[in-house]
Amino acid sequence: MKFSNDLEKKTFSKLAEQLPSLIEKKCHGYDELYGYKLLPGEHYKETIAHALIYKFCKAYKFQYEEAASTLCDTLNWRREFDPLSAAFSERHDEILNSVGILTSYPKDEANKKVVTWNLYGALVQHKEVFQDVNKFLRYRIGLMERSIALLDFDDETNNSVAQVHDYDGVSMWKTDKHIKQCTKQVIAVFQKHYPELLSVKLFINVPSLLTWVYDVVKKFVSEETRQKFIVLNDGTKLGEYMHSAPSKLYGGNSKETLEAQNVKEVRPTDYTLYLFEKKVSADVE
Ligand code: HEM
Repeated sequence: MKFSNDLEKKTFSKLAEQLPSLIEKKCHGYDELYGYKLLPGEHYKETIAHALIYKFCKAYKFQYEEAASTLCDTLNWRREFDPLSAAFSERHDEILNSVGILTSYPKDEANKKVVTWNLYGALVQHKEVFQDVNKFLRYRIGLMERSIALLDFDDETNNSVAQVHDYDGVSMWKTDKHIKQCTKQVIAVFQKHYPELLSVKLFINVPSLLTWVYDVVKKFVSEETRQKFIVLNDGTKLGEYMHSAPSKLYGGNSKETLEAQNVKEVRPTDYTLYLFEKKVSADVE
């Protein structure tokens, strides 16, 4: 964790110190964030809890009130939405599952080791998957949580994810109401509840005629997030940014296909498994 001055350090220390009382008074006692326990006890690891709350401090420029209230909102949102269930318990539409890929490139550069691929171009023939916004959101958040479970918050070179949107197949952009709703909602949830977890986002195979879509969508995104975006018309240039990507279609070094690289089994954290067990016991009683 890096602090540029004493004030930043002070904000972080205050949040760490106030956390038990904030969680008790404002978050209904819910102390889970991205599968990790924020308060001391079994399954707690201080370095990880601190790395996570640091992200909220950094995202809100070390302004205590904003960092603390967004962290509380996030814990309350998690208590209700249950993103861990979306990630590890629920079944999602098979078409959606087929366009969401996770890859792990341990030898690649810092914070490009875990990559989420969204092959949204392949969905142009399946616009029905966007009709139920909540269903789409649960799928997309589930994928986000599984990518986070592949990170290591004790390792500063692997504590955020890279994301790729492949728009191959998109020839024109009709203002589909459902796609717009899903896009807006995912952006809003990521923006608020997943701060400092994105390292870079590459939009590939974007037809030149559609670069204007980028100008429209980016308006919903903060300047800090926007600075992490890279748009490539040619998908085979991706390998310049992601060396272990498949050589075929993406220009990386790997002979494997993206499907072969897909990490299908992601292990939930011990605390996630504990919470699942607790829920099952409560349901049985
Ligand atoms: C975000 C879908 C076309 C640029 C998103 C998101 C979805 C989506 C669901 C939410 C964020 C996420 O899932 O990570 C689609 C579909 C498209 C399409 C289905 C076409 C059929 C385009 C095009 C561009 C574009 C042509 C131009 C580059 C963006 C941008 C974001 C975004 C800049 C914001 C990313 C973020 O905040 O993380 N899109 N999109 N999209 N899309 Fe698209």
